[in-house]
Amino acid sequence: MKQNLTDIKKALKKELDKERFEHTLGVMYTAAALAMAHGANLDQAMLAGLLHDCAKCIPTEEKFALCKKHQITLTEMEQKNPSLIHAKLGAFLAKKKYGVRDEAVLHAILVHTTGEPGMGLLDKIIYLADYMEPNRDKASDLDEVRPLCFKDLDEALRMVLRDTLTYLKENDKEIDPLSVETYEYYKKLKEA
Ligand SMILES: [Fe+2]
Ligand SMILES: [Fe+2]
Repeated sequence: MKQNLTDIKKALKKELDKERFEHTLGVMYTAAALAMAHGANLDQAMLAGLLHDCAKCIPTEEKFALCKKHQITLTEMEQKNPSLIHAKLGAFLAKKKYGVRDEAVLHAILVHTTGEPGMGLLDKIIYLADYMEPNRDKASDLDEVRPLCFKDLDEALRMVLRDTLTYLKENDKEIDPLSVETYEYYKKLKEA
């Protein structure tokens, strides 16, 4: 696994711009720390963290072309907001290009932008690591979210989803219905 991670890291350094590569390493190590805190598999967390944005820096036209070529169906939301495509395309490339066979890792990459109701442990770890890794500095709730992620993943998800949706609304950005569904799910979970 170590060697595998080193090889993939080398390949990604060429695929991603500097900032995205730094973010990627931040997510990998943050995911590792969260895996330690919550008894998740460390190798899976690091691999998923390392690869979660592997398709992020592909130019938009090429993203569409790759999806067409490999019969990856895009939602209306993804067609309108091509930046969302990197999750689905990333899961595909993790499998085809980087040789990942672990379905849990592929799934965590697939759902890392929108989340989904009833996420698995690895899904939650990657979603939250992506939000709060050390290079992130924009979200206003980071001081609260960071320690919370180590204590209560579901409560951290509820807070992050709530704040993300608020941010999108306030900035007139489009909201993926799946993110709303995910938020509703974790909100209910906390109320139950
Ligand atoms: Fe991403
Ligand atoms: Fe990311």
